[in-house]
Amino acid sequence: MLTRRLLISSTALMAALPAPAFARQTATTAAPVGAASPGGVLSVTVGVTGEGRPEYTVSRLGQPVIAASRLGFILTDAPKLERNFTVTADAPTQHDDTWEQPWGERRSVRNRYTEFRVHLTERSTLGRRVDVVFRLYDDGLGFRYEFPEQPNLTTVRIGDELTEFAVAEPGTAWWIPAFEWNREEYLYNRTAIESVGVAQTPITLRTDNGLHVSIHEAALVDYSAMNLRRVEGGRLKAALTPGLTNAAVERTAPFTTPWRTLQIADRAGDLVESSLILNLNEPNKLGDVSWFRPMKYVGIWWDMHLDRKTWGSGPKHGATTDYTLRHIDFAAEHGFGGVLVEGWNKGWDGEWFGNGWDYSFTEPYADWDIERIAAYGRTKGVEIIGHHETGGNAFHYEQQMDAGFALYQRMGWHSVKTGYVADAGGARVRGPDGQAHLSWHESQEMVRHHQRVVDSAARHQVAVNAHEPLKDTGLRRTYPNIISREGARGMEYNAWGQPGNPPEHEVNLVFTRLLAGPMDFTPGIFGMTTRSPDGVATTWAKQLALYVTIYSPIQMAADVLENYEANPGPFQFIKDVVTDWEDTRVLNGEVGDYVTIVRKDRNSDQWFLGAITDEEPRALKAPLSFLDPGRRYRAEIYRDAPGAHWKTNREAIEILTQEVTAADTLDLRLAPGGGQAIRFVPLGRGRRA
Ligand code: NOJ
Ligand code: CA
Repeated sequence: MLTRRLLISSTALMAALPAPAFARQTATTAAPVGAASPGGVLSVTVGVTGEGRPEYTVSRLGQPVIAASRLGFILTDAPKLERNFTVTADAPTQHDDTWEQPWGERRSVRNRYTEFRVHLTERSTLGRRVDVVFRLYDDGLGFRYEFPEQPNLTTVRIGDELTEFAVAEPGTAWWIPAFEWNREEYLYNRTAIESVGVAQTPITLRTDNGLHVSIHEAALVDYSAMNLRRVEGGRLKAALTPGLTNAAVERTAPFTTPWRTLQIADRAGDLVESSLILNLNEPNKLGDVSWFRPMKYVGIWWDMHLDRKTWGSGPKHGATTDYTLRHIDFAAEHGFGGVLVEGWNKGWDGEWFGNGWDYSFTEPYADWDIERIAAYGRTKGVEIIGHHETGGNAFHYEQQMDAGFALYQRMGWHSVKTGYVADAGGARVRGPDGQAHLSWHESQEMVRHHQRVVDSAARHQVAVNAHEPLKDTGLRRTYPNIISREGARGMEYNAWGQPGNPPEHEVNLVFTRLLAGPMDFTPGIFGMTTRSPDGVATTWAKQLALYVTIYSPIQMAADVLENYEANPGPFQFIKDVVTDWEDTRVLNGEVGDYVTIVRKDRNSDQWFLGAITDEEPRALKAPLSFLDPGRRYRAEIYRDAPGAHWKTNREAIEILTQEVTAADTLDLRLAPGGGQAIRFVPLGRGRRA
């Protein structure tokens, strides 16, 4: 075909790709094809081995990042798609546009990439075809398989995806295990890349020569989630989440797989600033979503985690009418948009964990007067954030969720927190026989379930914040009513975890889980002694800084109300901080050690800074050159007082104000397990008073 041509000569490619020291290099026989990112930073090649096995490589500025790595599939009911291929490619095309997020870490997102389509054609009589489409950005790339419509490949039953990522240099990896009972709620391992086991994505790597790499996926739609199994050296291989049959995925051609993604950067902070995952998703399909507004919320929640109240009915029931009205009053007085109420609906009294059969999503307990609460909230401008714990029973939930969302819509409420508490592999889905069957949380069936939830919620103008969710793959671009999710150990572990979250946990999250998207971490705890041995293992200043370092368009002030009423000084920052941003920048940071992030308010000229550290104290510099150069600002600083410490002296906080300009550099001193939060309020133009 005329449009298909080889783009770079094999000699030129081999010169650009020195033999990697770390991973196996397979001899590629036919001339490989290749393309580069718009600024020439990243390049990719695709070729076949002597047996016709397709492989790709990635290099950055001429240095190999991913050595020869396999592409292909094992099918459960047809010959494997793994060898006997020829490779051709279309000429690369260039794309450059900018789109706007309805809310987010930044308003404008630039989407500049080279698209490179590679055709794999089977030489055998079946003559099956699969395209691999690469999108190359200067800060990362995505590739996906596209199965065209064809006579010899109609229903595709994928037993195993052979995609590999052979990391070319040794280094360090931050990862959580896959296929474990507690789903994604694990502490991060920091190991040599050579010691990774079976990991979830995103996984973050730092090679010994200082390159930062995050491997993940984008646009997980009607497919099973990808995990990574290390097979040898630095070679990581896709491990798809199993389905109900021996096929992890069943689809009918034509279809595309999710994007397999690599973010690649010198600076750790560049991983955080990258928009790769969002860019690889389809544009907004919901249109006007102004019925949802980013907000902060309080809730009847930490009470239950401390065991002061119960979800179920009885003398300690948390979700009572009076207690809810008290929260609405508090929210209205302090400028919060929502009140989360858990345990409002029938079904909590028996064994709900991994069960969920008893839940009703339309019937409140008798001591929760839904009509009165909704009417009162309307007079105060405060919405209830609904709660749908399913106990992992997606089968049962699907029969009621539409009615549940319709109820919220009738009450004037626009968000729901869902939950899927069940052992991994213990979610219930509808099988082909119409009955409930146990499934992995990230199986293709559960991916479909979460899509149905988001679709149904959108029809009722409800936004979804899922706990024990699917991992985030950037679908919020396409369906902005996916506002946030859990998908990691959140604050709740500091209430009862054995162990709780150690001081390094949140810094680990910034450079791992949070690369996937927003998290409903629920910061803002001032009562530091809990049921967990170390209680809340941070200083107060770090609790405040989490509102800036963890992005989410909904942020909870998670503590019980009396702890805020008793501490108006530090609480002021939680009242002032916003949840929707014009821009986001990472001033400094190292994976798992510390990070400083600044964000500009989307609706004013204020900036906010959050800096957090692990168990080590830090002295960090924060140049304020992000501020408007002609302007003076009042910096309202919340910092660790001398002697502050995450274990022995958490409440030691200093609150002070200082006038600053863009020419200043602040010295940030963080205590062990500490942090610093700053609000910059513009004062006016001209010289300092
Ligand atoms: C686990 C969630 O993460 C937590 O926030 C919630 O309170 C409980 N499940 C009950 O639904
Ligand atoms: Ca959870």
